[in-house]
Amino acid sequence: MVLGVEFDDPALAARVEAGVDRAELALAEAVRSPDDFLDEAAGHLLSAGGKRFRPMLVALGAELGDPERTEVTTAAVVVELTHLATLYHDDVMDEAPLRRGAPSANARWTNSLAILVGDFLFAQASDLVSTLGTEAVSIQARTFSRLVRGQIRETIGPKAQADALEHYLDVVADKTGSLIATSARLGAKMAGAAPEHERILTEFGERIGIAFQLSDDIIDIASESDDSGKTPGTDLREGVPTLPTLFAQRSTDPADAVLLERLSGPIADEAVVQEVLAELRRHPSMEQARAFVRAEAATARGLLDGLPPSSARSALEALCTTLTTRIV
Ligand code: IPE
Ligand code: IPE
Ligand code: MG
Ligand code: MG
Repeated sequence: MVLGVEFDDPALAARVEAGVDRAELALAEAVRSPDDFLDEAAGHLLSAGGKRFRPMLVALGAELGDPERTEVTTAAVVVELTHLATLYHDDVMDEAPLRRGAPSANARWTNSLAILVGDFLFAQASDLVSTLGTEAVSIQARTFSRLVRGQIRETIGPKAQADALEHYLDVVADKTGSLIATSARLGAKMAGAAPEHERILTEFGERIGIAFQLSDDIIDIASESDDSGKTPGTDLREGVPTLPTLFAQRSTDPADAVLLERLSGPIADEAVVQEVLAELRRHPSMEQARAFVRAEAATARGLLDGLPPSSARSALEALCTTLTTRIV
């Protein structure tokens, strides 16, 4: 199951599950340390949960070649470790108290320790990727660079004359699309897939990664519980613009004046956060945002037409549909 999608082909489901299980064992090994504190802190978010979406994409990408190769498992560990490290850092940046249903590392320890543990996880990922050859090292380094650039550009915000929506979409591509593209790509590459298939999967990963982040941003507003393992409204508290708020900010309806004023920066007062959440949930900008995600998911799905028909291709297509159903 990926994000609640059942694969039609049970043999594929069993192979993907076995691939993710192999990665899981290797992940537990990769976060271990002889230092007691580091051992506990680095294992904290790994054992707290997570969907393992990126290892799953590695396993699906590897279906275009030989998914049993050991390099495929290493690639899955590298991308999940990189993701995990970004979560430690992101929760510091976003002052988020909850991650994967558990206290974030910054809430449980301190910002400094959360940053250092994230650095340790990046280092572990770098060590492992070095076993996959120089091209993989370069792909990982460029991914990491895009990811950091995305997080920095989100923090700095758009230039005064720039289009805020365009800026946001660039940020999303860099901070999230980059690593999800690399997940599908390394899966294909390490399995020995044809270069053309690797290229298609890279492009597919980038598009589905963007749709994934956009849907996550919608859930941050639409979700009325912390079922996601995170605290809804985090983006509003931090004043981080997202697709629904950017669409709302384009409104010229005078009735939206107070809402737009409140969306113009971070919101400290919890009662106001709740009011804005309730208002946004009813606002037409939510439906606009959902339609945008559906279009992105359809673009991603269309890219798969370049792959030969297979049960792996069907599973990736189903994934595109699921992304659009998790936001309704
Ligand atoms: C969270 O990623 C950060 C985003 C890119 C939205 P996931 O939603 O994949 O987080 P986990 O791994 O399941 O916790
Ligand atoms: C996730 O960004 C972090 C990265 C992709 C690097 P967000 O801040 O938007 O995601 P969540 O909602 O905290 O998971
Ligand atoms: Mg965050
Ligand atoms: Mg963030």
